[in-house]
Amino acid sequence: MRTFPPYRIQVVKEIPITTREQREEALARAAYNTFDLPSNMVTIDLLTDSGTGAVSAAQEAAAAQADRAYAGSDAYYRFRAAVDDLTSYPHTFPVHQGRAAERVLFTSVLKPGQISVSNTHFDTTRANVELLGAEARDLPCAEFADLDSREPFKGNIDLAALEQTLAGPDGERVGQVLVTITNNGGGGQPVSMANLKAVRELCDRYGVPFFLDAARFAENAWLVVRREPGYGHLTPKEVAQEAFALADGCVASLKKDGIAPMGALIGVRDPEIAKRCEVNLIATEGFRTYGGMAAHDLERVAQGLEEVIDPHYLASREADAAHFADLVTQAGVDIVQPSGMHALYLNAGRLLSHIPPSGFPGHALACELYLAGGVRCVELGSLYLGGFDENHNLVTPAPFELVRVAIPRRTYTQAHLEYVADVLADIAKDPSRVASYRVVDAPPLLRHFNLKLERI
Ligand code: F0G
Repeated sequence: MRTFPPYRIQVVKEIPITTREQREEALARAAYNTFDLPSNMVTIDLLTDSGTGAVSAAQEAAAAQADRAYAGSDAYYRFRAAVDDLTSYPHTFPVHQGRAAERVLFTSVLKPGQISVSNTHFDTTRANVELLGAEARDLPCAEFADLDSREPFKGNIDLAALEQTLAGPDGERVGQVLVTITNNGGGGQPVSMANLKAVRELCDRYGVPFFLDAARFAENAWLVVRREPGYGHLTPKEVAQEAFALADGCVASLKKDGIAPMGALIGVRDPEIAKRCEVNLIATEGFRTYGGMAAHDLERVAQGLEEVIDPHYLASREADAAHFADLVTQAGVDIVQPSGMHALYLNAGRLLSHIPPSGFPGHALACELYLAGGVRCVELGSLYLGGFDENHNLVTPAPFELVRVAIPRRTYTQAHLEYVADVLADIAKDPSRVASYRVVDAPPLLRHFNLKLERI
């Protein structure tokens, strides 16, 4: 029996339909950086699953009656109740988005010269570690290196490498272990509960705090239910509760699995860290009962957290992603296997094998998807992760040339995703016509968002 989404559509928003000629002009005006495209020139926007989910009638009803008191509003208590139901952290704070949660928590935990160890730091997470004068070190598991392998938990942290780091000469400097669930920087792959339990054990043994970056906690929990022996009989909520319980705290952007346009969460057990977070929060985000969020967004998040953990919703989201993945692979475009839930990661390096890393095959594919079909997505390859000289020439290629095609929650129907698969299939019929790119200008930090390029 097929799955289907546990909702129907009551409010819709028109999307722009454009010609290739108009898109050629728009992309040239954006200096071939898809972040600089105006969204009214984008037909299907798969740039991110963050803040782009469709809200429910229940979320909008709650938002409409939100109590805007400066301190102690009803909206805050609903937020607290929703978060407490999942996390059991004694100290939780609302923050306006994930990167603010990172800044507030890391400022309270890390010192200059320390190391943050992760399966993979997301790019703002890495930047927030580095801005504090600390080092962000990624230790993804070895299975991830084989993009085609169908190992179920390729988002895991490499436990042997973690132990070696903690026990070795750098061990003293490790200020935190941060596990990202699911691993967005690592192909959107899930992390197993066995891996989280082993991290807990190592962190106890070496006296290091263990935090989750739980932006996609519900999708991780669902993939655990589906894939990990011993968890099939639990609800995704029970699995999420167990995952949160294993850690000393979390940061979580709620623009993903809060299904809200804005919002995030910090949770901690340690009262001293909580005190430091609270001072920082009040000085830079807002009072502890709103933390930079408007009351209506606190309400949307509180309701969204209940909706996201529904097994019917998660099953239908997984099925949508799997159907999309099947169409794309049948069309001859390989993806990072196995397909997860929030995005497909296309293997552009393999599809566009005529383009060397210095011509940015991932970026070339992302641009072609836009030019051919008005589809926006983002490169995760040498443009994002490579090393460059002062003339913007690539000197160290990234290990993979990928394109992330994100799937916003409840926003597009299967027909939209089938259309995207058709566009990709067309490109795959004659990949040799896709051109390379070169960087003409780039800032030193968070380069990806502000690049200017030229087509060769
Ligand atoms: N952590 C992870 C794993 C993320 O994916 C993101 C954002 C953040 C932290 C930061 O949260 O955007 O609320 O400040 N990821 C988005 C993306 C932007 O497209 O993957 P934020």
